[in-house]
Amino acid sequence: MPESRTVDAYDVRIADIADIDLDRLQALSISVGWPHRAEDWQFTREVGHGYVALDEIDRVLGSAMWFPHGDDFATIGMVITSPRLQALGVGEWLMKRVLAASAGRNYRLSATRAALALYRSLGFQPNRTVFQCQGEARRSDPPAANAPSVRRLEATDLAAVTALDARAFGTARTGLIARLFAQSVGYGVERDGALVAFSLCRPFGRGHVVGPVVAGLDEDAVAVVSPHVDAHDGAFLRLDTHLDEGAFPLFLARSGLRIHDTVLTMSLGSAPLLNPDARGPDCPVTYALATQALG
Ligand SMILES: CC(C)(COP(=O)(O)OP(=O)(O)OC[C@H]1O[C@@H](n2cnc3c(N)ncnc32)[C@H](O)[C@@H]1OP(=O)(O)O)[C@@H](O)C(=O)NCCC(=O)NCCS
Repeated sequence: MPESRTVDAYDVRIADIADIDLDRLQALSISVGWPHRAEDWQFTREVGHGYVALDEIDRVLGSAMWFPHGDDFATIGMVITSPRLQALGVGEWLMKRVLAASAGRNYRLSATRAALALYRSLGFQPNRTVFQCQGEARRSDPPAANAPSVRRLEATDLAAVTALDARAFGTARTGLIARLFAQSVGYGVERDGALVAFSLCRPFGRGHVVGPVVAGLDEDAVAVVSPHVDAHDGAFLRLDTHLDEGAFPLFLARSGLRIHDTVLTMSLGSAPLLNPDARGPDCPVTYALATQALG
C-alpha cells in the first residue's frame, strides 16, 4: 500500500498516530464537530492503534484507528477527513491501511451518515441503529419500593464486570475494561451473589458519558444508570444506546438525555452485534456503549 500520494495538489503521507501531538488531533476532530478533549484522544491512543494523513508541512488531514479486543476481533473508529479534503479518497486510503494492519479479525464500527458509503464499499454490513442521547441531566424519579438494590462498585468487582461485559459484547476486552474502570464511577446490581448489571461513568467530551452499561433486564439497567443521572443533575451527560423500546429509553428521555444524533453499528466478518431484543435474565446485553469508537 503506498505511503504517500497527491491529494488535490497536496503531497499527503501516512504516519503513525502515536507520534502526533494531541492538540493537532483534537483540532482535526473539532473540524468535524466532534467533542473529544485532548484527554479523550490520549485514551484512544492508549487502547488502540492507527494512522494519520499529513501534508508537506505536517498538518493532520485525516485519521483512522482500530482497537483490538482479543486476538480475532477489533472495533474501528476516529475515522476523520478534514472537511476541505473530503470526497477525495483519503478516508478510504486510511481505512484500507487500518484493515491491512489489523488483518485476520472480525470488525465492528459505528458509522455516521457521512461514512456509510465508504464502509459499505469495504464490505461492512448494517446491524442496528445507535441513539446518541445527551443533554442536561435531570434527577430521576425516586426508585420504586420493589426496584433492584444498587451498590457502588469497588476494585474487587473488576473481574465480575469484565466477565459480564464479555457476555454482552461477544468477546472479552479485559485491558480496556480495566482502564475504563480506573477512571469511572461504577454501580452494580447483584442477584444470588452474582453481578447481573453494571454501569460505568467517566469524564468525556462536553461533560460525562455513561457507558458501558450491561444488564439483562430493563429495571436493572435503569437502576444502575439512575445514580449517575442524580450525580450529574444539571450537568451535561451522554449515553449511546441501541435500545429503542421498553423502559430504558423512556427513562433516558425523562432524565434529560434526548436523542441528539444516530449512527449505525456495522460489522465485517463473523462477529455481528448481539441483538439487544434477545435480552433477558440469562442474556445480558450492552445497554450503553463505552464510546462509539470502542463499541
Ligand atoms: C466519513 C469521512 C471520514 C469520509 O472520508 P473521505 O476522505 O471524504 O472519504 P473518501 O473520499 O475516501 O470516500 C470514500 C467513499 O465514500 C463516499 N463519499 C465520500 N464523500 C462523499 C460525499 N461527499 N458524498 C457522497 N459520498 C461520499 C464515496 O462512496 C467514496 O467512494 P468513491 O471512491 O466510490 O467515490 C469524512 O466524510 C468525514 O470525516 N466525515 C466527518 C466525520 C465522520 O463522520 N467520520 C466517520 C465516523 S464513522
